[in-house]
Amino acid sequence: MKLKMIAMAVLAAAAGAAQADDIAQRVETLLRQMTLEEKAGQLNQLSGKEFSTGPNSDNVRNIERDIRSGKVGSMLNIKGVRDTRRVQALALQSRLHIPLLFGLDVIHGYQTVFPVPLGEAASWDLEAIEESARIAAREAASAGIHWTFAPMVDVGRDPRWGRVMEGAGEDTYLGSRIAAARVRGFQGAKLGGTASVMATAKHFAGYGAAIAGRDYNAADMSEHQLHETYLPPFKAALDAGAATFMNAFNTLNGVPATGNAMLQREILKGQWGFKGFVVSDWGSVREMVVHGYAQDLPDAAAKAIAAGSDMDMESNAYGASLPALVKAGKVDIAAVDDAVRRVLTKKFELGLFDDPYRFSDEAREKAALNDPRHREAARRIAAESMVLLKNEGNALPLRRGLRSIAVIGPLADARRDLEGGWIVQSNAAKMASLVDAVRAHAGQGVRVDTAAGCDVACRGLDGFDAALKLAATADTVVLAVGESWDMSGEAKSRAHLGLPGRQGELFEALRAIGKTPVVVIMAGRPLIFENVAEQAKAILYAWHPGSEGGNAIADVLFGDVNPSGKLPMTFPRNMGQIPIGYQQYNTGRPVQTESNVVYKSAYIDSPNTPRYAFGHGLSYTSFAYSGLRASSTTMRPDGKILLSFTLTNSGPVAGAEVVQLYLRDPVASVVRPLKELKGFQRVALQPGQAQTIAFTIDRETLAFYNRKLEWGAETGTFEVMVGSASDDIRLKQTIELTER
Ligand code: NOJ
Repeated sequence: MKLKMIAMAVLAAAAGAAQADDIAQRVETLLRQMTLEEKAGQLNQLSGKEFSTGPNSDNVRNIERDIRSGKVGSMLNIKGVRDTRRVQALALQSRLHIPLLFGLDVIHGYQTVFPVPLGEAASWDLEAIEESARIAAREAASAGIHWTFAPMVDVGRDPRWGRVMEGAGEDTYLGSRIAAARVRGFQGAKLGGTASVMATAKHFAGYGAAIAGRDYNAADMSEHQLHETYLPPFKAALDAGAATFMNAFNTLNGVPATGNAMLQREILKGQWGFKGFVVSDWGSVREMVVHGYAQDLPDAAAKAIAAGSDMDMESNAYGASLPALVKAGKVDIAAVDDAVRRVLTKKFELGLFDDPYRFSDEAREKAALNDPRHREAARRIAAESMVLLKNEGNALPLRRGLRSIAVIGPLADARRDLEGGWIVQSNAAKMASLVDAVRAHAGQGVRVDTAAGCDVACRGLDGFDAALKLAATADTVVLAVGESWDMSGEAKSRAHLGLPGRQGELFEALRAIGKTPVVVIMAGRPLIFENVAEQAKAILYAWHPGSEGGNAIADVLFGDVNPSGKLPMTFPRNMGQIPIGYQQYNTGRPVQTESNVVYKSAYIDSPNTPRYAFGHGLSYTSFAYSGLRASSTTMRPDGKILLSFTLTNSGPVAGAEVVQLYLRDPVASVVRPLKELKGFQRVALQPGQAQTIAFTIDRETLAFYNRKLEWGAETGTFEVMVGSASDDIRLKQTIELTER
């Protein structure tokens, strides 16, 4: 049996290699036939946004002409079987009939909308995350899309930066695991399947470190931090097979990412051996002029291609300038050929030369877009992404037998806002709002009323009275507040992270009439809501939960689903603490007690601790951690330690716990953070059920970059911690790495 499997694997590998050889040959044959203009064309990507709105505009006519003459290699923002077929047909009229690649931002779903990526990350459920990407890919691929500009794998540690919505949060380890899961989900086992799309690891690199959380701003950091914190999720995406990378708008240590040879040539294509292609971000080649890094558009094109940016998104720089630059000896033809090879290779791998329309299939599109399993998955994953921040006196789940419920607040009856920041098309009309879902859950005989109180911006108090009047007579009040869908995401940096406008006053007003509500907060980022955090009995953080968000919130409120989400980002108490994350350093002057902070690394007007720590999230049940055992307390460099303990569901209902493994290296040649996440597992247990949980520790677990940027572990003792959150460590063990 085993032999047969090995033989099959060998055969598959041989077939794969033969196919790769074959593709390489076909690429070379094609390349030899191409003019310089046609080569530049393959590296030119344009937007077809106007194609659906103004098909007769000059711009559309010009693009169509360019496609027919082989001057465009890829289009973004064209979708659907009809449009992709029509535009592909234009490319096939070009001299060499090279098909177009259709790219699109399929960020958290195509037709079926899943929670915003940061929310989904809060599930810590890699299988669910992979599944949602797989569904998005199936829907998109059936509608003619070959390529999604996702996942965004930028580490984000500053909630002012609106794009934290699109990532996996602050942690490099968690972010790396999620990056790999998303790539696997989008791409499937192998490129070329018609239910999958190429993934893009973006934005390479440092985009998440925008100074002051202001989008597109410069990033400036040590090489050490770059390697330790920001690059690993990209490496994980690459190891999972990411077909493409996107570079970034920002400068990194003074050099635009788009013109950054150290990033793209040395690290990505050199050290990491990346064989796919790099697309620029939207207009980022052109923006190098604005940055002050290039003289004009041709200069920007020359610098970008030399630095390893293969495809130019929407700058019109490569198409317009590369042929002349090569002829003038300013750009090496080898750089152009290398980029073209990379792009053509992907087109072959996708099977587009064999059938340019294979992704645009009406029957498949219909089946994929109407598959009820997709909505079911969206509901399950949305419920899993929610984080129960607080639940004093078991205020949640809602008691059965209530006679009336008032669902108050600007997001109580919202639909579009449930979908979140980056969707392909809204299906709000077909969605249940939170009130709809509460009505359905509560059943007949329960009165469910709703009033917004104010809109999301909440500038005035005019609607408060009506809302208060409704709330006054209800048995229970649910308050739904937070951000609208367009308050987080790209270009949505915020300098104030409180609940928008006067939403916080609505909470106060409800309290003032003796109706302290259960609070549901929707947002694309951590918000700051101190009055609510202190005075509410229960707070459920629902992010922007997607197409099935209303139902999923109600599932959790009524206890049909026991919440299990854990924060992938730290929630600060105030703006002054930002940036704040769990990976703090001890400093030479750590705070021992909050009552004595004189000459300590502290604020005189705020605690150092966050409102809610990384990894925090409550459940309707409780979990007991006990009996930590280590297979050995010393480990040789090639050894392993098995760490195990018992996790028991010690509460009344079934639930899932995300157990977290943290590490501290107390003395090292480069000081290490107080805690670093090194492992996690989601464990579902029935009440009273116990399970042995094991983590394996080896040298890799203990390794870090030293000052010479060498990756390795240093001998000595390490503290290993297991817990329910970064600030809720339940078990500890010291181990030692020995020299031999
Ligand atoms: C700009 C964004 O930064 C990038 O992530 C996105 O993929 C492109 N626009 C294309 O829409």
